[in-house]
Amino acid sequence: MSRIVYVNGDYLPEDEARVSVFDRGFLFADGVYEVTSVLGGKLLDFAGHAKRLQRSLDELEMANPVTEDELLAIHRELVSRNGIEDGLVYLQVTRGAADRDFAYPKDAKPTLVLFTQSKPGLADSPVAKSGLKVISIPDIRWGRRDIKTVQLLYPSMGKMAAKKAGADDAWMIEDGFVTEGTSNNAYIVTGNRIITRHLGNEILHGITRAAVLRFAREAQMEVEERAFTLDEAKAADEAFITSASMFVMPVVEIDSVKLGDGTPGPVATRLREIYLEESRQAAV
Ligand code: PDD
Repeated sequence: MSRIVYVNGDYLPEDEARVSVFDRGFLFADGVYEVTSVLGGKLLDFAGHAKRLQRSLDELEMANPVTEDELLAIHRELVSRNGIEDGLVYLQVTRGAADRDFAYPKDAKPTLVLFTQSKPGLADSPVAKSGLKVISIPDIRWGRRDIKTVQLLYPSMGKMAAKKAGADDAWMIEDGFVTEGTSNNAYIVTGNRIITRHLGNEILHGITRAAVLRFAREAQMEVEERAFTLDEAKAADEAFITSASMFVMPVVEIDSVKLGDGTPGPVATRLREIYLEESRQAAV
């Protein structure tokens, strides 16, 4: 069965879906995106993703082609048409097609594309039991990482550098401080304290991050939102990452330095359980 994708109001078999070669998403990476996870056929943190999408669009003065209610309906329709039990919904809005010009076009109609990825057992990944190995790489991305744009070549290169080094992912470093992972937010745990970089233009404001920090505080865990150095991370008791596709995932090694005894730590493991339990309950 061919996947059904959404393009500008139509639900189409994936090999019939088309966007223009003049689309500014293609020519200028002039587009933003969201990834929302699906567990048990329901969407996790949908409202958070819709809110961040609006913020990304506003920052780029790009029109939103749909209301939040319409967006939810499209997500649900795609999940249903593709029979997604566990997986992801990818959404992208671009400024649309226009003759190539660096200035924003006045009359372009935004392009809206959504598709699903089926990932059976997404929440039961064996990696949660073994943990991730990360390497460090310099953060040479642009200065507005808080806008979720589709310019993902450097994160993609970082992921490849990690794979070549026998690791799973890369943490990016700026002025000695960890910004975030290639496609996730980064955390360390020292003693009982969870430390993660404060919000700003330097990192994406993770929707999973917001939920996890809220749950951690509700569980009386200590949370400190500040930049931490790579050296501090290597000396930490444990580390983990968060994202819509990985939820909370333990990190057990940084640049070949084992954290603690080299297995997932209790804080990351507990937060993963809490996040999955609470998010499933609140899923729509
Ligand atoms: N990535 N930081 C970066 C650079 C990201 O690309 C992501 C998400 C996050 C975590 O954000 P959230 O918790 O809202 O997923 C942080 C998505 C999953 C992706 O590109 O596939």
